[in-house]
Amino acid sequence: MMRETRLLQVNPTQPEAEAIREAAEVIRRGGLVAFPTETVYGLGANATDEQAVAGIFAAKQRPANDPIIVHIAGLNALTEVARDIPPLAYILAESFWPGPLTLVLRRGERIPANISAGMDTVAVRMPRHPVALALIEAAGLPIGAPSANTFSRPSATTAQHVLDDLNGRIDLILDGGPATIGIESTVIDLTGTAPLILRPGGIPPEALEALVPGIIIQPRYLNDTVAAPAPGQAIKHYSPHARLILFDGDRDRVVAHMVSYARQLRERGERAGVLAADEDAPFFEAASVELALLGSQTDLLQIGANLFAAMRSLDRSGVDVILARGFGQRGLGAAIWDRLLRAAEGQVIHVK
Ligand code: TXA
Ligand code: MG
Repeated sequence: MMRETRLLQVNPTQPEAEAIREAAEVIRRGGLVAFPTETVYGLGANATDEQAVAGIFAAKQRPANDPIIVHIAGLNALTEVARDIPPLAYILAESFWPGPLTLVLRRGERIPANISAGMDTVAVRMPRHPVALALIEAAGLPIGAPSANTFSRPSATTAQHVLDDLNGRIDLILDGGPATIGIESTVIDLTGTAPLILRPGGIPPEALEALVPGIIIQPRYLNDTVAAPAPGQAIKHYSPHARLILFDGDRDRVVAHMVSYARQLRERGERAGVLAADEDAPFFEAASVELALLGSQTDLLQIGANLFAAMRSLDRSGVDVILARGFGQRGLGAAIWDRLLRAAEGQVIHVK
């Protein structure tokens, strides 16, 4: 259903009460509000209202088998959205909430099944962005919110990205400036026999390992080569329009390989873009490629924060192919690799 999408500026650290009140009102009457979180922009609706939740799926063109995270503003709300909550949930919440961690728990009665793709579980997160917290509090409701992008596109890290994807499909966008982490939350499943990291994200695996020794990282898509991927774990995700080619291996060799790959593309008449660390840039000078700089390779926070915006900017410049490399598996490197791998639809060129 087409509608007018309004854009409201908000102060990201001290959100104006009037803007928050207006947005909360839209949520309460079943509408859709995009809002900033510290990870990416979310597309929010009343998580207790099946119709409102259905509206999220429609606006994003998201398949019904891809479950949505429920956002809360205080720990008391946890028992309103989940049940049979294990002690480990509280231990993790104490360390990482508010923040970029999502816990998969047993779904509470107030939460409709469609938010969880019909499953008996629910993913819950307490974001730490002041605008997100103020909105949830003012609405007086848990807010269901996936990333505020069209399905399978790179996540939105600015209000402009949200507008580019969802203008005319949602009621309101709260513009609180760029998201600082830029990569979605880490998702941990606490409903099985052992805790599982389903999606690496803003909380690095090492930080979780310190609290949950031996925690297993199991992004489902990696193992599901034959069977259909688990809900929300489809490999095609976070994709730019251009096809993305991902390189892995020793950094210097990888960069050299990317440079010659770019030359070959040009000879074939294809326009290449590169997701490059600042340190990579000089090597591409003579290759006539479109560079999108991610920041220093020594600063994974910056690389992560720029990743989706850089994919979108290369798309806008109309390149046919995007070349990218990973930044290791340590810290945020694991999440950055996961997003690149999905954008590359699982294909990696291993440089020997
Ligand atoms: O940082 C984030 O998590 C952002 C901000 C807006 O909070 N949200 C976000 O939502 O990334 P989304 O919908 O793009 O990704 C949520 C993922 C789903 O794709 C799915 O893999 C997982 O969380 N998820 C949600 N509910 C689940 C459930 N009940 N069981 C297993 N996984 C679930
Ligand atoms: Mg998403």
